[in-house]
Amino acid sequence: MTTKPPSTSQPAATPPAATWAGAGAAPVPLWGDDFNTDPYAIYARLRRFGAVAPVEIHPGVNAWLVIDYQAALEVLRDTATYSHSPLNWSDPVPSDHPIAPVIQPRPCAIATDGAEHRRYRQVITDGFNMIPSHELRDRVTRLADDLIRDFAEAGEVDLVAQYARQLPLVVFNDLFGLPASYATGLSRTMARLMEGGDEAADANEELEAYLAELIAMKTEHRGADLTSWYLDHPNGMTQEEMAHQLLLTLVAGNEPTTNLISNALSRMLSDPSYYSTLTNGARTAREAVEDVLREEPPMSNYAYHFPRRDVLLHGNWIRTGELILISYAAANTTPDGLPTGPRTDGGSHLAWSAGPHQCPVKHSALLMAVTAIERLTSWLSDLELTVPREKLQWRPGVIHRALAELPARFTPITPGQAGATPWNRQSPQEASVAYTESSP
Ligand code: HEM
Repeated sequence: MTTKPPSTSQPAATPPAATWAGAGAAPVPLWGDDFNTDPYAIYARLRRFGAVAPVEIHPGVNAWLVIDYQAALEVLRDTATYSHSPLNWSDPVPSDHPIAPVIQPRPCAIATDGAEHRRYRQVITDGFNMIPSHELRDRVTRLADDLIRDFAEAGEVDLVAQYARQLPLVVFNDLFGLPASYATGLSRTMARLMEGGDEAADANEELEAYLAELIAMKTEHRGADLTSWYLDHPNGMTQEEMAHQLLLTLVAGNEPTTNLISNALSRMLSDPSYYSTLTNGARTAREAVEDVLREEPPMSNYAYHFPRRDVLLHGNWIRTGELILISYAAANTTPDGLPTGPRTDGGSHLAWSAGPHQCPVKHSALLMAVTAIERLTSWLSDLELTVPREKLQWRPGVIHRALAELPARFTPITPGQAGATPWNRQSPQEASVAYTESSP
């Protein structure tokens, strides 16, 4: 007979006086050198608390971190007990706080509950459903080749700055229906936003201006693009709601897709069992992506939730409105928490989250990441890292597992060389098929 976890989300009969203290220890910082250097060591240390640990996500900002797979599923699925709306946060940060951009009330899918959430979310899912997979693949292929041409002659590249960080942005700019010239400005703006500090306020204004111009252009002239489909959606978005759904698409899609591409590339280029696939080995880009999703999810800790009443969650009293985050990274690696033995499900993990707020665009995101990796590694088949994977630097931050850089070298390719090149837009595989067919 198996014993159940102590208790799940039960109503509080007698709420305790002080919940953070009730956890029996000071909240563990998820910021600073220790966490930034090795977050997985911190997750391992947090296991002494059980399924839920008291943490500090920024100096002075406390949260409960759910680190157990089953407990995470309970919170993610129990919409009666837990709200996903920051309006229910009992101790919200001011609007100019560094955490505010990622946890603040907004009229958009990620920050709302119930019918309001479904209304916003449907606009996004229906929009992406309008894009046939083969068209998305062609688009990513074309835009990946554009980027590869920019560094192919150099023989060296930072695959984060020059590829993984650029690709999602140029794809979104294209899906939104804007000319490529707008992508350069967007990429500069997003880089400045990421730097934070004084630059961030200006960059935020630039992003608002980009979205305002986009909406104005598409209001005037519709096209076969996401913006027009959002505008014409029967759920009828106001101008403000339009801006927020587009912003969410861009912000929720950009950083994790960058990380999925670069984290998977870092594995493929440092592990011989992947590396051989660059020519004709056994493991594929898709497998590298799946390994990242399970072992090092691009979004590591997010899915903010706020209890609608005092609850007892796996032995911890949590007060109404206290911040709970789900650690996808820790939950995925829960000891004994995942199904074992031969897998037929492609691997259960929480990298896309679960419940009503799970990623609505995972198939498109997977296709983008796998196509990006395949395109790069088929053009630059002897790509190799110039820094060993264990020495790579990761960007600080609690939400994302993000490489700071991924320096690599390869044999340069040039526009004038014989055969297929990214300049004549024929893939190495297509070229070899053409050669075989026309050969005697
Ligand atoms: C085309 C690229 C992507 C787009 C447009 C996109 C869009 C979105 C949107 C709109 C949401 C909010 C859904 C809701 O609240 O109902 C969301 C949630 C989420 N996405 Fe994606 N996403 C993309 C790629 C990714 C990738 C690559 C990952 C990582 C593997 C990821 C992981 C997640 C997770 C974990 C959530 C849940 C967040 C939460 O509950 O707070 N997404 N995504």
